[in-house]
Amino acid sequence: MSSDGLKKVIITGATSGIGEGLVKRYSTCHKVIACGRNQEKLVDLESKNVETLRFDMTEKQHVFDAFEDLDSVDIVILNAGVCEYIDDATNFDASLFERIIHANVIATGYCLEALIPKIKPGGQLVIVSSSASFLPLPRAQAYGASKAALSYLTRVMQVELEHIDVTLVHPGFVETPLTDKNDFPMPFLVSVENACEAIFIGVENRKREIHFPKRFTLLLKLFALLPFSLWQPLAKRIKR
Ligand SMILES: NC(=O)c1ccc[n+]([C@@H]2O[C@H](COP(=O)([O-])OP(=O)(O)OC[C@H]3O[C@@H](n4cnc5c(N)ncnc54)[C@H](OP(=O)(O)O)[C@@H]3O)[C@@H](O)[C@H]2O)c1
Repeated sequence: MSSDGLKKVIITGATSGIGEGLVKRYSTCHKVIACGRNQEKLVDLESKNVETLRFDMTEKQHVFDAFEDLDSVDIVILNAGVCEYIDDATNFDASLFERIIHANVIATGYCLEALIPKIKPGGQLVIVSSSASFLPLPRAQAYGASKAALSYLTRVMQVELEHIDVTLVHPGFVETPLTDKNDFPMPFLVSVENACEAIFIGVENRKREIHFPKRFTLLLKLFALLPFSLWQPLAKRIKR
């Protein structure tokens, strides 16, 4: 806690979508440090008394420099992420694959190295993955693989880290600039406000996993338990 009794919360990807919503929610009761690249959005947050850090999380040294002077924090929410789809599996786009894995997985590693030592004993680490990690989804070779890696990484951290609680977040579809680009139907799409409330309550309760909306994520989890031969034809139909 800071001297004023408020918890200090770092949120990455705070300049858009879920991260921006989390900044709003956490600012009502905690002290937030918002991270992103978008200068205009960060200046706007500063005008609302939110502390900000501007850096590109894919640049290792920039991540270390950004957090160097930070003293201890109570909650770290690693939410920043990017999504691009592979349209042609036959002509695999390795550059796209590299971009997504770098931004979603490798850059999370940079943040973990820089931030884990700053989290107070009894503090919390929260990593935002995706329900896309549950099952192989069409065109998601890069995004899905990056999120499956994040889910695995987070679960290992839950096994390894004794002094803090680690929460893994698996959202379904949330209405944000990231999903605005999607050209396919998104079942059970939820608002940023509802998504952020679900995350906030789950983190307050120190849940190991937060997933929502349940009617969507439980269905995916059920399919993930069934033999792959049942999912494969359905996934091919979704693709068409
Ligand atoms: N929306 C969904 O349906 C959904 C579902 C499941 C999981 N998720 C996950 O939830 C997280 C947030 O998604 P969103 O929908 O809120 O996306 P969004 O609106 O596109 O926001 C993404 C955020 O990540 C930041 N970011 C991206 N690349 C960065 C980089 N290289 N360095 C620093 N910051 C970077 C962006 O900051 P700048 O704009 O300042 O660069 C932005 O604040 C992502 O991890 C996403 O995979 C989203």
